Amino acid sequence: MPDWPDQDALAAAESHLRSMPPLVFAGEARRLREGLAEVAEGRAFVLQAGDCAESFSELSADNIRDKLKVILQMALVLTYSAGVPVIKIGRMAGQFAKPRSEAREVRDGKSLPSYRGDIINGAEFNEQSRTPDPGRLIQAYQHSAVTLNLVRAFTRGGFADLARSHAWNQEFVSSSNEGARYNEIAVEIERALQFMQACGIDLVNQRQLHEVDFYASHEALLLPFEEAMTRRDSLTQAWVDTSAHLLWIGERTRKIDGAHVEFLSGVLNPVACKVGPSCSPQDLVALCDRLNPQRVAGRMSVITRFGAGKIEAVLPPLIEAVRHSGHPVVWICDAMHGNTRLSSSGRKTRHFDDLLHEIRCFFDIHRSLGTWPGGVHLELTGDDVTECLGGAEEVLEHNLEENYLTACDPRLNVRQSLDLAFQIAELLRQQSTPLRFDTSPIS
Ligand code: PEP
Ligand code: CO
Repeated sequence: MPDWPDQDALAAAESHLRSMPPLVFAGEARRLREGLAEVAEGRAFVLQAGDCAESFSELSADNIRDKLKVILQMALVLTYSAGVPVIKIGRMAGQFAKPRSEAREVRDGKSLPSYRGDIINGAEFNEQSRTPDPGRLIQAYQHSAVTLNLVRAFTRGGFADLARSHAWNQEFVSSSNEGARYNEIAVEIERALQFMQACGIDLVNQRQLHEVDFYASHEALLLPFEEAMTRRDSLTQAWVDTSAHLLWIGERTRKIDGAHVEFLSGVLNPVACKVGPSCSPQDLVALCDRLNPQRVAGRMSVITRFGAGKIEAVLPPLIEAVRHSGHPVVWICDAMHGNTRLSSSGRKTRHFDDLLHEIRCFFDIHRSLGTWPGGVHLELTGDDVTECLGGAEEVLEHNLEENYLTACDPRLNVRQSLDLAFQIAELLRQQSTPLRFDTSPIS
């Protein structure tokens, strides 16, 4: 927990949040859980993506729209190329709190508290900005509400209409190889829609063709915020964390008897737990028992983040143990957080090839064990940034300085994200499952 200097101000912020309307509804969280149950059973795939840390200063319609565009593009590539329904979850509308390995940061001999995300303090390196400010909890709520409002408008109001899928391709991407490949798919989809219409099929009333279900998620790190947003579901009287549809526990806070596990064990939302190489099979089964004692499919996702060099040794025993325990988990591969390294100029970066390698191993391991690779978890942006190395356009070390904007971890740019989506679609296509012939309507 941050050291808030003013405890009264913190109590006032929490009380204010408790009086505010929910950001999401229990029914929506339940619907996501049902979608995730399909994933647990191998009939759908999860794309969870967005910023490492959202920042208050970047809140703009363009920014939200562009991030949404790239996620919709990736989902379309996956759905079209692999024939698998894709559940879209943003690291968006609330991803403001960051766990840090060092409590303090030293620059030129001056030591200040580390930046811990906009919900806690400011990134600027001065005393005032780095002092935890409870007023930021309210700002985080407002920013989440504005973001969600736009996301709902974009995904319900025509922008996400399949017939407009070519418009999700941003201009600076269309001329690239990945952009051109994407355009081919968009044209084929348009042709297929025209064909169905010509056959007399009523497309106007098919909601799935015109709207997208898009869910919000973030790390449930700052418990005073999460608790203040937790309400009784009017239908069942169960507790629901109304700050997002899905909440996850980070690698640093997944202690079985810790506060974060205790808190998320008590809400009805679908939950996820990040798991790094130090997690033993027994630890993971204990987490499943604690977070999903009723063994409800879709309730619990495990987001693994081992790094390209470790996944082959670490993942198989975890899968075996969970399978042996009978827990119905959704396996999601976070290809980012085990692959962070420093560039020669000291920038935090990640190489596209390492991400791809970890994802390939994830698919291979699941294929060999007969389990379902349920999804991927990525950090990306709708901007043309240069934060991760490699990809088809080959961002090189010296390019990192050109457009390195992230407030925290390095993110994939649009071309790298699309490139990755095509590669994942290929891997999904090779996965043997009956699902390609299942037409259950998950949008
Ligand atoms: C994150 O998702 O940004 C993060 C900090 O991940 P992890 O808890 O896996 O390190
Ligand atoms: Co991150």
